[in-house]
Amino acid sequence: MNIIQILNKDNLDFKDICTLLSLSNSSDIELLRQKAENVLLDYVGNNVSIRGLIEFSNYCVCDCLYCGIRKSNLNVTRFRLSEEEVLSCVDWAIEKNIGSVVLQSGECRDKETIKYITQLIKLIKKRSISTALPNGLGITLSVGEQTFDTYKSFFDAGAHRYLLRIETTNQKLFSEIHPNYQLFSKRLECLESIKKIGFQLGTGVMIGLPNQTIEDLANDLLFFKELDVDMVGMGPFIPHNQTPFAKADIDKKTNFLLGLKMISVLRLLMKDINIASTTALETLSPKGRMLGLMHGANVIMPQLTPVDYKNKYILYDDKPDIDEQKESIFGKLKINLNNINRNISFNQWGDSLHFKNKNRKQ
Ligand code: 5AD
Repeated sequence: MNIIQILNKDNLDFKDICTLLSLSNSSDIELLRQKAENVLLDYVGNNVSIRGLIEFSNYCVCDCLYCGIRKSNLNVTRFRLSEEEVLSCVDWAIEKNIGSVVLQSGECRDKETIKYITQLIKLIKKRSISTALPNGLGITLSVGEQTFDTYKSFFDAGAHRYLLRIETTNQKLFSEIHPNYQLFSKRLECLESIKKIGFQLGTGVMIGLPNQTIEDLANDLLFFKELDVDMVGMGPFIPHNQTPFAKADIDKKTNFLLGLKMISVLRLLMKDINIASTTALETLSPKGRMLGLMHGANVIMPQLTPVDYKNKYILYDDKPDIDEQKESIFGKLKINLNNINRNISFNQWGDSLHFKNKNRKQ
């Protein structure tokens, strides 16, 4: 079967996905991109949803072998933003008509942290209710593995979307990149809890990990479909110099292209979900995130984290914009989006259409 025949199929199977992810010829990749872009415009539209990303703490109890803020990295100066600092980012988002925020941090499960996060959610909600945002800001959480009850208390406090990446669905590879007490089964259990509670569920993987194959990535995409997720954020793996993977032998160009192809194929598989164009793409190419959007993504998460803390939240080397103020990041983003003819959804939560469509069917 040739590429056009595959692209015109209603349901892509494992073999089709592998074929598409293996494309190397630029005209073939362009055909894939165009198809994904058409599906995006038909099902989701031209609008890009904005989430202001607030990386509020880098304390972490996990020791993921790839991550710059893993607990064993003693070079990291640990921080947690005060409530006032977070709220000042929130006020800025409101002022700029950014309709939703993501609260992200390293993973902590102690009582005090859970209380702090729950309280923050309530404060943000209360503060952001206005005529423009009658239900306040949309709040997405990305604070790792928690108990069912903790997830429930975050949901009851007002958060309504949750991101927790599975990182890879190859269980052998999962155990190679995590210490043995961090379990694949636990991650799955958390994803199920998040869904059951009623959050819009987001997950994702890293692309181009050492020993990861095209077949693994095809299985990752099929896993997203099987789990029926509402949102996906995935990006190339990039080594961090203070981790056990510092010297990982990876080909940045291949991984970058693979990142774009993963977005396109996912758009064909799950037409109405939210797909983020991630910072990791931008790390490997100056226009990486815009290219992600052109390949089928519809969400972008500009950082609102205060500059003084950004250089302490480095998950991988060469993270872009770490010295740049949010004003200038947002200004450039608007220009860049305009240049690729995409609109910004202002004062919108930008919920996953997939979530809405799913609930309509029930
Ligand atoms: N390269 C790319 N992505 C990374 N993440 C963590 N470390 C790296 C890295 N070295 C991603 C993980 C995590 C998310 C917050 O950041 O997928 O879930």
